[in-house]
Amino acid sequence: MKMKVLLVFGTRPEAIKMCPVVKALEQCKDVETVVCVTGQHREMLAQVLQVFDVKPRYDLAIMKERQTLFDITIAILDHFRTILEQEKPDVILVHGDTTTAFASALAGFYMNIPVGHVEAGLRTYNLQSPYPEEFNRQAVDIITNYYFAPTELAKKNLLKEGKKEEDIFVTGNTVIDALKTTVRKEYRHEALDWAEGSRLILLTAHRRENLGEPLRHMFRAINRICTEFEDIKIIYPIHMNPAVRAAAKEELAGNDRIKLIEPLDVLDFHNFMSRSYLILTDSGGIQEEAPAMGKPVLVMRDTTERPEGIEAGTLKLVGTSENGVYTAFRELLDNKAEYEKMSKAVNPYGDGTASEQIAAILKERLGRK
Ligand code: UD1
Ligand code: UDP
Repeated sequence: MKMKVLLVFGTRPEAIKMCPVVKALEQCKDVETVVCVTGQHREMLAQVLQVFDVKPRYDLAIMKERQTLFDITIAILDHFRTILEQEKPDVILVHGDTTTAFASALAGFYMNIPVGHVEAGLRTYNLQSPYPEEFNRQAVDIITNYYFAPTELAKKNLLKEGKKEEDIFVTGNTVIDALKTTVRKEYRHEALDWAEGSRLILLTAHRRENLGEPLRHMFRAINRICTEFEDIKIIYPIHMNPAVRAAAKEELAGNDRIKLIEPLDVLDFHNFMSRSYLILTDSGGIQEEAPAMGKPVLVMRDTTERPEGIEAGTLKLVGTSENGVYTAFRELLDNKAEYEKMSKAVNPYGDGTASEQIAAILKERLGRK
């Protein structure tokens, strides 16, 4: 009988990192692969599914405008339970640190179904930063049976917490697998044509703990820099969160060297990254992609669970104050030597075979039973 693996995810970054795993599992003829999306995101999730041509068997379609953590958790527990009763999978695979990952893993635990955690072991050990993600990933790892850690450091965190070594597998990050399929030399886009001849700065921001004042501080710093440096152009694909969109429009619209656009699909975004001079972000996934492309990143957060990129020299943690962002941004634009140092390509996240490794490990471990 085929073993049944149910992958569940719901947001853009989870989809980008789980679609390669779906593809790898689909190559195994003794595995039945079932994809369930929670629909925590809607348009931003649909973009990724389309690029990777992944067709979910289930879409829980839970997204609501300005949803709270209660809304997401309750809706997933309620709907996902029914799917689990119907499908009775041998294992559930969740990803990372979203509320989709937490609530889905919890549902699996309540039904005594083993859980595999892709991108396990990332930590800041500060429950407020990132919030609520640090709680989500620690909580998932209490429940997890198979830990797919992207790096040795992530494995170390898990060992420190008493997880069993035989259940931890260092595979690299599946985002590197995704990157192999998206970046193209001949890629063109009208927004890139607009930036031609200038240093292109790519900007993203969305974290819950940055909504409100921190976001406004970042935007003000960026606006100031844009006024002072005439040779830069900024492209900002704005997250669909209405709170982010309102702040971005209020603070940044009207500056003709800042282009505010809709979220890019992942193929576009990766190619924009590869053409950019530097990136400003509070995103998690971008901190993993940038070192693989040798693109300097100013991380507009107070903590990071991805110290590998800092060690590699590609990332700099700059906080969220107007002055902090302004000073670091200015320094990197002015200081060529510093820039060159940061853009030395080092990829701490594996060789792009993480998904195949995860599929092989699951086959071996579940096959034993
Ligand atoms: C979620 C994750 C965060 C992850 C981020 C990636 C949680 C608690 N947060 O945060 O860890 O870094 O996704 O982007 O799991 N919206 C749309 N369309 C979409 C997506 C979002 O309209 O396709 C709007 C909705 O109004 C929604 C709001 O954005 O209510 C916020 O979405 P939500 O998933 O709650 O939070 P994110 O900030 O996206
Ligand atoms: N991304 C994208 N389109 C965009 C912005 C980002 O496809 O307009 C990709 C990016 O390459 C990365 C992921 O989305 O793989 C990061 O997602 P996000 O910042 O929403 O979440 P986080 O990684 O912070 O959880």
